[in-house]
Amino acid sequence: MNTHWNEALTLVAELAHAEGEGNWKDADVAIFPPSLYTRHVFEFIQHAKSGIAVGVQNCASTENGAYTGELSASMLREVGVNAVLIGHSERREYFQESNETLLAKTKLALGAQLTPYFCCGEQLQDRKSEQHKRVVTQQLSTTVLTLSRGDMLKTVIAYEPVWAIGTGETASPEQAQEMHALIRQLIAEAFDQEVAAAVRILYGGSMKPDNANALLSQPDVDGGLIGGASLKAADFSAIIRA
Ligand code: PGA
Repeated sequence: MNTHWNEALTLVAELAHAEGEGNWKDADVAIFPPSLYTRHVFEFIQHAKSGIAVGVQNCASTENGAYTGELSASMLREVGVNAVLIGHSERREYFQESNETLLAKTKLALGAQLTPYFCCGEQLQDRKSEQHKRVVTQQLSTTVLTLSRGDMLKTVIAYEPVWAIGTGETASPEQAQEMHALIRQLIAEAFDQEVAAAVRILYGGSMKPDNANALLSQPDVDGGLIGGASLKAADFSAIIRA
């Protein structure tokens, strides 16, 4: 729930400008504005002939009908949305979203041709008690690892240790790599090596221009899911360049 209308459009304009300068042309970039702004953001991006994809931060876990206040994956698709975050830790924590709900959302997103960015990650107490691998394994084995092979290939995974989100505390490159390697191994076991190698696994949690290189140079870290630093075009661009 960051950025108001003018700030959101200014941010997109600055990003499209940075993209136009050509120094991050090899990266795939998606932005996830508040759902209310997606149509205008999408039109702006089309007009600017930008390659930035537009996602949303949530969708309903049901297809349509009497669910007051909800937005379905297919409605979002109609206004130009390409992707959706599923199971961000704030959704899990403040809106009590269970793995079952998140699997339903993932399937609806895929059915509406949206790319699910499925978030997983442990709480601080899980890490302290060395339960982090077990927690993430459970989050994935009850959700995306039950998808069909074809759907898994269309899904992006974001590993976001909850203790690192918005706290300024980042997982070390080694901690991130260890968890990303685990996630890739889980995908290989549930599907096969080809799927494991193809699925993109992003790291999220206080990624900033000054730590992006070290995190992104880890072999199993394919990209970033950026929160706070994405609200400043210069910082976001620097991370994209990294
Ligand atoms: P952060 O947020 O980059 O500010 O830690 C990440 C997120 O919200 O997913």
